[in-house]
Amino acid sequence: MVIMNLFTLVLLLLTLSRCSSEVVNSSTQTCPQFFADPGGALSPPTVFPGNNYKEICQILGNTYEYATLYDTANRIPVYSAYRFNGYTQCTRQSNWYIEPQLENINYSKKMATESSVTNIQNQAVNDDYANSGYDRGHLAPVLHATSQSCSDATFTLTNAAPQDKSFNRGQWRITEKAVADTLVQNCKGNSAYIVTGVVPGTGKLKNRVRIPSYFWTAYCCLDNNQQVKAASGFLGQNKNVPVQEMSIKNLDTMLSGLYGPVFNVFGGKCN
Ligand SMILES: *[C@@H]1O[C@H](CO)[C@@H](O)[C@H](O)[C@H]1NC(C)=O
Ligand SMILES: *[C@@H]1O[C@H](CO)[C@@H](O)[C@H](O)[C@H]1NC(C)=O
Repeated sequence: MVIMNLFTLVLLLLTLSRCSSEVVNSSTQTCPQFFADPGGALSPPTVFPGNNYKEICQILGNTYEYATLYDTANRIPVYSAYRFNGYTQCTRQSNWYIEPQLENINYSKKMATESSVTNIQNQAVNDDYANSGYDRGHLAPVLHATSQSCSDATFTLTNAAPQDKSFNRGQWRITEKAVADTLVQNCKGNSAYIVTGVVPGTGKLKNRVRIPSYFWTAYCCLDNNQQVKAASGFLGQNKNVPVQEMSIKNLDTMLSGLYGPVFNVFGGKCN
């Protein structure tokens, strides 16, 4: 009897642990804290249909740090979504992680080093970027991290896409800094939500990893009654030219044109 109960318990625990997978059916269910809720209604970015799009609640230690929609066909993310709570100086990691569950849903839900998984097919690996002339460009960036563990968790290739080196270190960095400074000034004591994404271009690294044609980012600042206090969008080509600032509505229109299917950064809200 006791043995039977123990067996049942083990089965139950196995089932539970599988349910809390990092690659999730719905990140708005598993990690809703990273998505804006203007007017009290959760308003996530569009999730494209298709088996190649995987929702990830990014976890390194025991804390969810941000959410990503990953495209296993192009081996780059579509976007990462996170809260901005101010920023601090963090030490940049030299290791980049991968997401074991993109290879097999039964693997660990925590991001891991490449060497811990054999035959990686469904995502980029470090070698894809080696000597390519492209940076592993962060979507959720180190610059917006409030803690070292949060910074560390951005170093997963599921949060990165090939980014022109001079753009990453030039105009895009200026944009990340400007967004951070704006939110520190204008969204203090309120809730700031950011989504940063890429548009797939025509070229590939190592015939595996799609090079984005554009990088984009957007913020939505909500007051304590979930009313929109400030919001703005930014779109830049993947080369070191100035990034254009625009309304969320215009960014939605631009991205819908670039992606093909209709795309909304904040569920059509935060205008
Ligand atoms: C996730 O989706 C799969 C496929 O539709 C389904 O079999 C599974 O039960 C779902 N898991 C949860 C936790 O909802
Ligand atoms: C994951 O584990 C379950 C239960 O052991 C098994 O049925 C399933 O085939 C496994 N999935 C993969 C992709 O290996």
